[in-house]
Amino acid sequence: MNCEEWESPIVMKIIVTGGAGFIGLHTVELLLEQRHEVVIVDNLGEGTRTFPGAKAALYPIDIGSEHLADIFAAERPDAVIHLAAQVSVQRSLENPSADARHNIVGTVNLLKQCADYGVSKLVFASSAAVYGNAAMLPIHEGEGAEPLSFYGASKKMAEHYIRLFSERYGLNYTILRYANVYGMRQNTRGESGAAASFVKQLLEGGRPHINGSGEQTRDFIYVKDVAAANAAALAHGDCETLNIGSGRRTSVNELFRLVSRICGREELTPEYRPALPGDIQDSLLDNRRALRTLPWEPAYSLLDGLTETIRYEQELRGERREERREERLSEAARAGLYF
Ligand SMILES: NC(=O)c1ccc[n+]([C@@H]2O[C@H](COP(=O)([O-])OP(=O)(O)OC[C@H]3O[C@@H](n4cnc5c(N)ncnc54)[C@H](O)[C@@H]3O)[C@@H](O)[C@H]2O)c1
Repeated sequence: MNCEEWESPIVMKIIVTGGAGFIGLHTVELLLEQRHEVVIVDNLGEGTRTFPGAKAALYPIDIGSEHLADIFAAERPDAVIHLAAQVSVQRSLENPSADARHNIVGTVNLLKQCADYGVSKLVFASSAAVYGNAAMLPIHEGEGAEPLSFYGASKKMAEHYIRLFSERYGLNYTILRYANVYGMRQNTRGESGAAASFVKQLLEGGRPHINGSGEQTRDFIYVKDVAAANAAALAHGDCETLNIGSGRRTSVNELFRLVSRICGREELTPEYRPALPGDIQDSLLDNRRALRTLPWEPAYSLLDGLTETIRYEQELRGERREERREERLSEAARAGLYF
């Protein structure tokens, strides 16, 4: 099929791999709001384990599994949003084989099913990590990709397979290279957990740390903006590779100052630790092609996104405290301590 010939139906059945993860869950929520039918494939190795209930079906399997074909045969999806991945740069350096198994071999297995079952569109979560240390900022999509980590290399290789599948089998795709994503329900292990780790430490009374001088800069994009880009790419940007970033560069020290101000903990200073191997110094994605191609633009400033994230995390901790208090009260009542 030719890329130009394809037109999106209004409501689609969409498989979201990694749909139980941080970006996955926000994407699934948005797709359900848009009245799509959603099927999640996630091995639950990571993920938030907070699911949108019965509104989305969940297959708890690995994308590398031979059973993936059965899911495609049963579900016959119109489109696939492929988010499942090993997402940690550090883990990719410690265990490159596992990284390649999830990110390359798993992706190839998925692409085979997309081709065999005539999926109309694949949206792939790639990363700014494919660029390595770029010669010029902002980085545009035509920049030579020289990843510094195995994670960046496995994302770059997955992109390559997608283009080859497109050439060979007419698979329609959009590759989205996300900048550093932050937001509600993020765990601290992922590719860019700095914001999540600051929020956690500041709300739980720990002392946050920064790897390196903190003067390294990143392009922080709010998770809801990324979910919106994923949804927009279902019907736009055919056979394109697009940067998904905020268009702004922020130092890690500045991020820390913002988070501590919103948390009301401005007196705290972070602990500085050695820079992590494989970490890039500066990153800023040129998002103009995405702005031109998709009906999309970042809707959240860093301040707005962080404020929403911190309010959510505060409420969650308040609810958990209340639940624990109620549990203690009912245990005490059962033990006959008081009535
Ligand atoms: N978070 C970021 O800043 C960022 C930046 C650039 C790109 N990305 C990409 O976005 C995607 C989503 O990342 P995230 O931050 O939501 O991470 P996440 O770890 O929260 O989500 C990934 C999900 O994929 C699942 N998964 C992993 N390997 C799997 C496999 N082999 N089979 C089935 N399920 C598997 C995990 O259980 C998890 O639920 C990833 O592809 C990641 O590389 C993330």
